[in-house]
Amino acid sequence: MSDRLKELAAEKAVSYVRDGMVVGLGTGSTADFAIRALGERAEKEGLDIQCVPTSDASARLGESLGLDIQSLEDQPVIDLTIDGADEVDPQLDLVKGLGGALLREKIIAAASTREVIIVDPSKVVDRLGTRSPLPVEVVPFAWSLAQMRLMDLSRRAELRQGDTGDTFVTDNGNFIIDCHFDEAGITDAAALETSVNAIPSVVDNGLFVRLADIVIVGQDDGQCRVMER
Ligand code: 5RP
Repeated sequence: MSDRLKELAAEKAVSYVRDGMVVGLGTGSTADFAIRALGERAEKEGLDIQCVPTSDASARLGESLGLDIQSLEDQPVIDLTIDGADEVDPQLDLVKGLGGALLREKIIAAASTREVIIVDPSKVVDRLGTRSPLPVEVVPFAWSLAQMRLMDLSRRAELRQGDTGDTFVTDNGNFIIDCHFDEAGITDAAALETSVNAIPSVVDNGLFVRLADIVIVGQDDGQCRVMER
């Protein structure tokens, strides 16, 4: 059910892509639907597009579909990025990073003229931090220092484990600490983003403040709700 809603949002987002664009490829199950839909459109319409992925996994998926995968080094200006999110609030601010790709996702979002976020309705919240923990990417050398400092800013800060029971490692070779908040969530996302990033060894965190331009929500009635900043 929810997969269908993700796919609906993905298809709508892919309709914004035009011939000649540089397109950012997001990461996660919802972004995967968009990459597949883009692959189909590119093949069917013979689109000349270049794609910059936000993770190794998205690069592999895009490549397998015949998309032209390029690096940010080659394409530092991106016309449109399509990505998922873990939470979207009424200001269109986001929490991202449950899939572990927040650093590259944030860099690509900042490099994009338009950042389009695709979600199912379960991701829409009144306040950030109420549904999802906040992922924070940290340098392994100092992860316990970061955890200690993050405990002061959240209710609980946990080093993320991978599927095999080892510590999860990002595409950039870093660790992730997931910060949980109480029922009230995050009261000032912009201030928290700055405080978290001021901790030594923090590379970046999953708060995306004023980075999303458009949020598309796939709905049960088969329509999409489109919200623009
Ligand atoms: C990965 C992300 C994803 O966009 C986010 O976790 C949503 O994933 P999904 O679409 O699988 O729910 O931020 O770092």
